[in-house]
Amino acid sequence: MDYNKKSVEDIDVRGKKVLVRCDFNVPLKDGVITDENRIVGALPTIEYLIKNHAKVILCSHLGRPKGEFNMKYSLAPVAKRLSEKLNKEVVLAADVIGEDAQAKAAALKEGDVMLLENVRFHAEEEKNDPEFSKKLASLAEIYVNDAFGTAHRAHSSTAGVADYLPAVCGYLIQKEISIMGKALADPVRPFVAILGGAKVSDKIGVINNLIDKVDMLIIGGGMAYTFFRAMGSTTGTSICEEDKLDLARNLIEKAHEKGVAFILPVDNIIGREYKEDTTFMRIYSDSIPDGWMGLDIGEKTQELFSKSLIGAGTIVWNGPMGVSEWENFAGGTRTVAKAVAESGAVSIIGGGDSAAAVEKLGFADKMTHISTGGGASLEFLEGKELPGIACLLDK
Ligand code: 3PG
Repeated sequence: MDYNKKSVEDIDVRGKKVLVRCDFNVPLKDGVITDENRIVGALPTIEYLIKNHAKVILCSHLGRPKGEFNMKYSLAPVAKRLSEKLNKEVVLAADVIGEDAQAKAAALKEGDVMLLENVRFHAEEEKNDPEFSKKLASLAEIYVNDAFGTAHRAHSSTAGVADYLPAVCGYLIQKEISIMGKALADPVRPFVAILGGAKVSDKIGVINNLIDKVDMLIIGGGMAYTFFRAMGSTTGTSICEEDKLDLARNLIEKAHEKGVAFILPVDNIIGREYKEDTTFMRIYSDSIPDGWMGLDIGEKTQELFSKSLIGAGTIVWNGPMGVSEWENFAGGTRTVAKAVAESGAVSIIGGGDSAAAVEKLGFADKMTHISTGGGASLEFLEGKELPGIACLLDK
């Protein structure tokens, strides 16, 4: 999808109330933010607006509170963290479109920043209800969408408000679509995609779209077992989508027809059960015995994948190679992360699990771009239109 949207720099924000949709859907443990990438990603736009004398009204969702005020999903920890990061107070409203939000928005001075409570405390948000969108829009004079992670949702705060306010993108959305857009439209070649994660069904759209663009497709993770079975290997109790075997065969055929190298694992690390401390062993084969399940790629595969990445011009990676959150099965993901980091290629990591794995394994600062969107980056790579971007003003 080719976007050429107006940004914060294309509109006069001075003295104006600007509603900024961010994706502050950050992981929390006991009220503490455990990964602040999405907060850090939102700072350039917020800082630009402060510097340019706007009155900043931030909004976001957090988790899935199902349309009810539930303080377990309050954005209070985000307001606190933002205040520290910006070195200025970010006032949290007690509601979203209620009296408190309205009063606090009306009292904003130039350069002030406030945060509305979780927009998903209202069921209307996810229904993209026009009345709710209108009320939200009435708090401000300009709308900026910088929530790349939620740009695949057509909700009130991500798309509906654009019907009532001049709507532009922030720097994060601009960066995400320019880096990923360039990789898809005009990649430095050879262009390699590494796809992993549990299910082929989650990645069909991405494989179909990328197969027309890449020079090599590397498949790892749980989804490899569906391809194994499709090619006649045994898969034991590994995750395998029986109803996707024909599709897997078709994808392999399509890759051959297009001259795309299609690389599958050649060996595996297998375990008795889907448990962190399960008994496990290496097998030097792509056939998995009865009563065992594949939980990571094996050593030969790690070597094969790493070698395949040497000389790559662009690498797009989405989905871990094994159960990377468990140390015994993190080896494949770690080796691939290292190989991507050392490849010298333009390296783009799709968000979600692969981004978390790269962070955890310590390779984040070696990558060209780690997307802040899980589902959104997947849909972008599928070539789908993202409603949160499509709704913005064209240049
Ligand atoms: C995400 O974490 O992928 C985004 O914040 C979207 O969240 P959602 O899947 O609950 O819409």
